[in-house]
Amino acid sequence: QAKYRADYTPPAFLIPTTNLEVKLDPEQTQVKASLVVEKNGVHNNSLELDAEVEKVVQIEIDGEGLSPDEFVYENGKLTINRAFEKAQVVIVSEINPKANTALEGLYLSAGAYCTQCEAEGFRRISPFLDRPDVLSIYTVTIIADEEQYPHILANGNLIAKQKDHKTGLTSVTWNDPFPKPSYLFAMVAGNFDLLKDTYTTISGREVSLEIYVDKGNLHLSDHAMESLKKSMQWDEAKYGLEYDLDTYMIVAVDFFNMGAMENKGLNIFNSKYVLADEKTATDTDYHGVESVIAHEYFHNWTGNRVTCRDWFQLSLKEGLTVFRDQQFSADMGNPVLERISHARVMRTMQFAEDAGPMSHPIRPDKVIEMNNFYTVTVYDKGAEVIRMMHSLLGESGFRKGMDLYFKRHDGQAVTCDDFVSAMADANNKDLSKFSRWYSQSGTPELTIQETKTGSVYTVEFSQRIYGRDDAYKALTIPVKYEVLNKHTGQQVERGVFVLEEHKGKLEIKTDQDVVTVLFEDFSSPVKVKRSLPLSDIKLIINNASDAFCRWDMLQTLWQMVAKEGKADGEAGRTLVNCLIDIVLKQELDPAIRAELLTIPSFQSLAEAFDEINVDAILKTRTLIPSLVTEQTQQAIRNELAEMGPVNNDYNKENVAQRSLKASLLNLLSFSDGEEVKSILRSVYDNAPNMTERVSALNASLNLGDALVQDLLNQMHKSFSQQPLVFDKICQIAASYNGDEVYQMMEYWASQEEFDPSNPNRIRSLYGAFVMRNPAQFHALSGKGYLFLERLLTDVDAKNPQLAARLIDPLLSYQRYDEQRVALMKGVLLRLSSTELSKDLYEKVHSALAN
Ligand code: ARG
Ligand code: ZN
Repeated sequence: QAKYRADYTPPAFLIPTTNLEVKLDPEQTQVKASLVVEKNGVHNNSLELDAEVEKVVQIEIDGEGLSPDEFVYENGKLTINRAFEKAQVVIVSEINPKANTALEGLYLSAGAYCTQCEAEGFRRISPFLDRPDVLSIYTVTIIADEEQYPHILANGNLIAKQKDHKTGLTSVTWNDPFPKPSYLFAMVAGNFDLLKDTYTTISGREVSLEIYVDKGNLHLSDHAMESLKKSMQWDEAKYGLEYDLDTYMIVAVDFFNMGAMENKGLNIFNSKYVLADEKTATDTDYHGVESVIAHEYFHNWTGNRVTCRDWFQLSLKEGLTVFRDQQFSADMGNPVLERISHARVMRTMQFAEDAGPMSHPIRPDKVIEMNNFYTVTVYDKGAEVIRMMHSLLGESGFRKGMDLYFKRHDGQAVTCDDFVSAMADANNKDLSKFSRWYSQSGTPELTIQETKTGSVYTVEFSQRIYGRDDAYKALTIPVKYEVLNKHTGQQVERGVFVLEEHKGKLEIKTDQDVVTVLFEDFSSPVKVKRSLPLSDIKLIINNASDAFCRWDMLQTLWQMVAKEGKADGEAGRTLVNCLIDIVLKQELDPAIRAELLTIPSFQSLAEAFDEINVDAILKTRTLIPSLVTEQTQQAIRNELAEMGPVNNDYNKENVAQRSLKASLLNLLSFSDGEEVKSILRSVYDNAPNMTERVSALNASLNLGDALVQDLLNQMHKSFSQQPLVFDKICQIAASYNGDEVYQMMEYWASQEEFDPSNPNRIRSLYGAFVMRNPAQFHALSGKGYLFLERLLTDVDAKNPQLAARLIDPLLSYQRYDEQRVALMKGVLLRLSSTELSKDLYEKVHSALAN
């Protein structure tokens, strides 16, 4: 069942042109594919196509029908036993979009037809060489009732449209002049509202920009359009990359497994990443829209013009495109906040994945179900690896590498090695050692030792991965650092040290008493083992030039407290004092202050443990804020009262004010009393936007279930039938720490808005329970785990991709205490004895094999 990277062979046939004729019907869509197929190289192999259609109706080769004994359709393959060098192959097949609950291939989303083909969904539409190194020019004719589906779309340019007066059906033909792999194919038919705009590219071409949203949602699409224009402009300015078709279309659909998809000229988006206004979307949502629009737009070059040779190379396009969208977001907003959020994702999700049974290098070597490899490792660690190259080559060296990459590979399907070679050749640099980052999984652990002899201060680094000592190859690790005077906090030196061997030394000549701030700006995706005295930690929190490191040291302090398991130890007292200082230091930058005052997630404290101590983490997360608030509640209240209303616009300054307000409200919720409840209620009632309503709600979670439920009901009343707001209600309800959470989930799942076949609903309610409610999920009764078990069984039967994401928290079961290990393992064992999708099978079995 598994496929290996080492087994790659070029395709036996090529398909230079593809003509599709699709007669849409909810249950019996007919797809006629007319393919020009030619042999690639000299061989006698039969043509073997990937196929997962309902029925193969008919096959013709050069106009001649095949008899049933000339082809075999079984086990996902359609094998054609007639020899040819080059032929016109016509295949008629039938599919059932309505029954497609996996949301892969052609399916119906709330009445609209849409497609999702990456990674291997095209074979569910038509038999094909469904692999990314087979590039074809597509012409697509879609036949449908125009009354019911006024917007009929496919990739590229509209070239014909006509109504057949006999049938009353309209046929619409699109042509995409750029050869593309099947995973970038898309088509849509539905009744939408359309927001139109134009963009003039740097060379003066006018591009029509079109955003299609559900009827009645037009007013929610302006932010998406602005984001698109900003992205187009940014890619021209930063990388000299211009859009290449006359039209750029984005369709927002409600039923979607992922965030969005970069289909050539016709992006399809989860509506969550398109629709936003201040009444219904939070600042986080606005950020999400902007960055996902940018991400998909940037794929037009990194992904579409230059694509992947095979799916093991996924990070070629995803790591690079994530890096580019990160750069974009940093330019649009606050670079430090961006970095903090990348570090959070890496440390909580990626490090956990890399320490668990599904650990894989950013370029995996073995895959059972490709959908399981759209991971934080491929995406986010992949982006960190690109970022390290950027650090090593510098801004202009990196740009030179990008230019060479496009010059060499435009129009091709290539590998990660090709990318690294372009970077290396453009800069005359040897990156062969660096490229180990592509083949070695796991998170490097850096042990740091500091000594002072005479006037030489030495920082010794040593890298390893626990338990892998023999096999571990040294990675290239850029360390951005700053040296501070231990007493005054003044900067002595700042630079970049590159560790290339298992051990390395940074030596600094100085007569002063110093301490170093390491991994500024999270310069490498590594774990740092370093024991610093509390006085140094405090000094760094107060004096490091890099705000990321000030935040980072504070996180270290939180972890120390969690590991001590008590708030009144030395680390606890230091942390409480630091936090009190920050509460009182109103002159600090509000965006940073808000981050510093945010209580770390369960997962980020768990990172500090070899065996996760659930109770110690939960205790730390409530005791520390309680102690801080005990001494600062008056100051917090005063500040909140003085803050007054913030104008609703989405910009850096306003976002910072609102997030500061959220952090202060959350702290305040740790002091009990009716008064706090009434403050939260009034914040909710007077909130001019969704961000503040959600802040009040999140804070109310700490004050018993009555207030939360009350406010959630209020929100439900004001925003009935608005699925994206309903999702927020579900998320908050499912995060409630108390046994009542089960009734709450049942209640919200019974509402009209809760359609269990919609992945956004499942993720909002149950995904939140699993990820954001550690106390209930990990309850020693085992109730949380059983809840997930039932859910997985249900969901897997309909939508395997969705199920395979929900199971992730169970995969690190070995990191918990004995009792929890037994409970979680029990779930996995029971699941393994049932019939599972390929997706879940791969995860469950690797977890148990470990
Ligand atoms: N390429 C898309 C993106 O990164 C994601 C597609 C995910 N597909 C999947 N089968 N998991 O924007
Ligand atoms: Zn992507």
